[in-house]
Amino acid sequence: MEYVTLSNGVKIPLLGIGTFLISPDDTINSVYSAIKMGYRLIDTANAYMNEEAVGKGVKRAIDEGIIKREELFISTKLWPTIYENVSAVEDTLKRLDMDYVNLLFVHQPAGNYMAGYRQLEKAYKCGKAKSLGISNFYGEELETLLKESEIKPHVMQLEAHPYCTEKDVRDRVKEYGTVLMGWYPLGHGDPGIMKEEVFVKLADKYCKSSAQIILRWATQMNFITIPGSKNTDHIRDNGDIFDFTLTDEEMTEIAKLDGTKKYYNATREEVAKYAAMHLPFER
Ligand SMILES: NC(=O)c1ccc[n+]([C@@H]2O[C@H](COP(=O)([O-])OP(=O)(O)OC[C@H]3O[C@@H](n4cnc5c(N)ncnc54)[C@H](OP(=O)(O)O)[C@@H]3O)[C@@H](O)[C@H]2O)c1
Repeated sequence: MEYVTLSNGVKIPLLGIGTFLISPDDTINSVYSAIKMGYRLIDTANAYMNEEAVGKGVKRAIDEGIIKREELFISTKLWPTIYENVSAVEDTLKRLDMDYVNLLFVHQPAGNYMAGYRQLEKAYKCGKAKSLGISNFYGEELETLLKESEIKPHVMQLEAHPYCTEKDVRDRVKEYGTVLMGWYPLGHGDPGIMKEEVFVKLADKYCKSSAQIILRWATQMNFITIPGSKNTDHIRDNGDIFDFTLTDEEMTEIAKLDGTKKYYNATREEVAKYAAMHLPFER
């Protein structure tokens, strides 16, 4: 496993497993299997409705002596409708059955996101979150957050893959040392990205799959990458990417795809409507 060091000195694995749209039962199995295969980073969110399942998968691996909690890196995200709920972090930890998370995000720049970020800062100061993140922040909301936050975000989670590397946003946060964790690294399962000529050619050269080439590219870009999967063969393959290195010429060739596509193109109004959705467990 390769790691990157955040601006506060915390080490984060460059590769993890995502759990968006994975049912609780599949999540327990994916998380447990991934840990067994050597994954250390697991990404979830209040809104994925599987934090309890992540906690169960982790607990199973710990109980079986496969791993210790301190060797794992767990990230989760507060949902906008509970940004102002003072027990939001405690409730999240309870669902995960953990005393702390390694990374805590505000999920969307919607609602009172500064109130949400203040909760994150409080959790950071009392050790309940070891690092802080923002997810889906661009433009005006990003500027407000950077200006008003006391502890600058260590990580930003954005849609990122070979079609979209968000260079402008990465440049904007460089002075704070904020690193990118990319979501939809495999285009949310888009078969088209796997068939891109450059990936098919490199897959053949390195005896890997297109998915493995894309994930290796992401880690060589220093993007923390969290492919989602409930398929243990995919989880195994996605973890098997550190025994080869793409050349500078190959990285340059892949860079030609940058800026050509974004999968999630919701308007600000659509995001606000989505983010106002209450979660079933809300009190
Ligand atoms: N912050 C945010 O707003 C946000 C939004 C979206 C996602 N995320 C995070 O980012 C993570 C990744 O995004 P994602 O899961 O939506 O998309 P993704 O990782 O780009 O793609 C997941 C899809 O790819 C398939 N897949 C995985 N490995 C494969 C392989 N080796 N070969 C072929 N297909 C493969 C999976 O199917 P199988 O299950 O069959 O393997 C699944 O359908 C999420 O799980 C979540 O943690 C965050």
